[in-house]
Amino acid sequence: MIKVHQVNLYRTQGRSQRQILDHCDLEVASGERLAIMGESGAGKSTLLHLIAGLEHPDSGHIQVDGDTLEGRTPAQLCQYRKRIGLVFQQFNLLPTLTVADNVLFQHRLNALNNERAVKDTIAAPLGLMPLWDLYPDQLSGGEQQRVAIARALAHQPTLILADEPTGNLDEQTGDEVMALFAQLTRQLGQTLVMVTHSSRVAATLERTLHLRQGRLHD
Ligand SMILES: Nc1ncnc2c1ncn2[C@@H]1O[C@H](COP(=O)(O)OP(=O)(O)O)[C@@H](O)[C@H]1O
Ligand SMILES: [Mg+2]
Repeated sequence: MIKVHQVNLYRTQGRSQRQILDHCDLEVASGERLAIMGESGAGKSTLLHLIAGLEHPDSGHIQVDGDTLEGRTPAQLCQYRKRIGLVFQQFNLLPTLTVADNVLFQHRLNALNNERAVKDTIAAPLGLMPLWDLYPDQLSGGEQQRVAIARALAHQPTLILADEPTGNLDEQTGDEVMALFAQLTRQLGQTLVMVTHSSRVAATLERTLHLRQGRLHD
């Protein structure tokens, strides 16, 4: 499903240039669930951004479902991103919208019309029905994160990219939310790439790779 081939990426920091990704390769099969670990600053978020088409490599190729990301117009990239669900460490919920509207926002933007299914297959398993009409500032951190996860899944993406999604929660809450999240992606048959600091969370997924010196290692 995902093929990252010999990707190089440089960043300018002050007057020097640093190579963040160095001939980086990655293959993820459809339906596979992968954890990526690595030190802070190793380039984990950058790698997810490249797969999401939010940033572009200096050289090398990225393919998702056989389609190459390079050379696409912004409109084509937007179309591509409809297949992807993104979960960031910051929940980025819209404060003036209820839980229901936060979750269904992208579903509606994508002109999908199956709110019942979102409730039954995503919101209810994540325990969101009792919170459905509340606003984000009425929720705990763990509850907000469950809303952010539901929102990322609500437009029925085939690929989920999650960037340290438990980073802001206490360990127990984080692990509970992750267990639910992992279970849900398995049920929905989605491919998952999750950046995490937690080896306990990584152990719940099928494979773990470590990003070190610009490349992924077992
Ligand atoms: N917008 C940016 N401009 C310049 N350097 C950046 C930018 N974003 C990240 N970096 C640098 O790129 C490197 C990789 O960052 P990142 O992918 O966020 O690492 P990680 O997610 O593994 O902590 C770091 O050295 C970081 O400081
Ligand atoms: Mg990061």
